[in-house]
Amino acid sequence: MAENRNVMQVKEKKDRYQVCYIPGDHAGFDVMEGCMIVMDALNLPIDWVRADMGWCMWEETCAKYPEGDERRNTVPQETRDAIANSDATLMAAITSKSGVKGFKSAILQMRQLFDLYINIRPAKLMPGLSSPLKGDPNIDMVLFRENTEDLYSAVEWRPIPKEFYDLHPGMERFKTKGETAVSWRVFSEEGCERIIRAAFEYARATGRKSVTNCNKANVIRATDGMMKEIFFKVAKDYPEIKAVEENADATAMWIIKNPQNYDVVVASNVFGDILSDEASQLIGGLGFSPSGNIGKDAALFEPSHGSAPKYAHQYKLNPCGLLLTAKMMLEFLRLDDKAALLEKAIGEVLVEGKDLTYDIFRDKGEKDWETKAVSTLEMSKAIARKIDPAFDKRADEVAAKAKEMCAWEHLKGQEAY
Ligand code: IPM
Ligand code: MG
Repeated sequence: MAENRNVMQVKEKKDRYQVCYIPGDHAGFDVMEGCMIVMDALNLPIDWVRADMGWCMWEETCAKYPEGDERRNTVPQETRDAIANSDATLMAAITSKSGVKGFKSAILQMRQLFDLYINIRPAKLMPGLSSPLKGDPNIDMVLFRENTEDLYSAVEWRPIPKEFYDLHPGMERFKTKGETAVSWRVFSEEGCERIIRAAFEYARATGRKSVTNCNKANVIRATDGMMKEIFFKVAKDYPEIKAVEENADATAMWIIKNPQNYDVVVASNVFGDILSDEASQLIGGLGFSPSGNIGKDAALFEPSHGSAPKYAHQYKLNPCGLLLTAKMMLEFLRLDDKAALLEKAIGEVLVEGKDLTYDIFRDKGEKDWETKAVSTLEMSKAIARKIDPAFDKRADEVAAKAKEMCAWEHLKGQEAY
């Protein structure tokens, strides 16, 4: 049942990797362009293959295919093939919309299709930034969120079939309350085990001291009770790591008070979704929050922030979310030296405090944040310069190549533009 190899790393070490990159929608293109400038400076053994996904593809496939046709999709078949055939995928933010008939979230589809059961979300306070918490505590936690089950199983009914009212005595009181809707919170033994094991394996490999499982086993006994049991069973295989179990609501409170106490955290899908957003706010917000979706056969890395439609193609967005995401991907590809170089360069630019995007200046409390702000591309170039001191000599050429790799003009006239 459990996978023997370390799924947190690419299956096979190679001299060169193929990486699929997806510029996303709206301001996603801007940050991917900045990211490509930095990737170039790192001189990576990577062949980049472009694919597209998101609202832009929804619009394109809707124009091509009639209503009800399954080829109408945010993720076209070619993109799925490109992901499947690459060693990893790096994706910028995409636009999701609710209430659109037939529309399915691209990222949720990918998590299910490729069984990307690990959602790894680190929350680490970068040098040069401050936390909204008093005294800038040392925040360096890594959250493992189960990525395929729970309320995200998409097993739901509205209204529920009549026979559901007789399935369980607890349903009796809902008989007279009008329409009843049910979303199943499905946990499987395999699902719990593999995410918990991934968290412990990661803790062991990185020398971390504790793994905390956040659950509501005190109330939600069947699902969270099972997860808690499996947690302590798996923990026995890792005697050197402290296994802590905590109510998820208490975690939400304590990570504000004592974030330094959290090391590796493992949670089910919904609790992990909420706790990861909360944790990101402690280290400077979603603009600094990387995220990786990893399974046995594919890995897709995406920043946690959105595609900011109102800033599309204005190059205002902070590139750090995607760059830190790329750093995680480089670690996955076993290019640890390059990953370390990238993280160091980002830190240096943040500490220097000159070449920063608007949001970083604003959040630092800088009163002239609007005039001081530099563009996504300028900040990316500053990071590239830290990596390669000779970068300026070829800056124009690199920028032109990045622009070409992330061309978006073909979207003109679309909403995703
Ligand atoms: C996330 C997001 C997604 C989720 C949305 C966009 C479907 O919130 O990656 O955390 O709910 O998982
Ligand atoms: Mg979320």
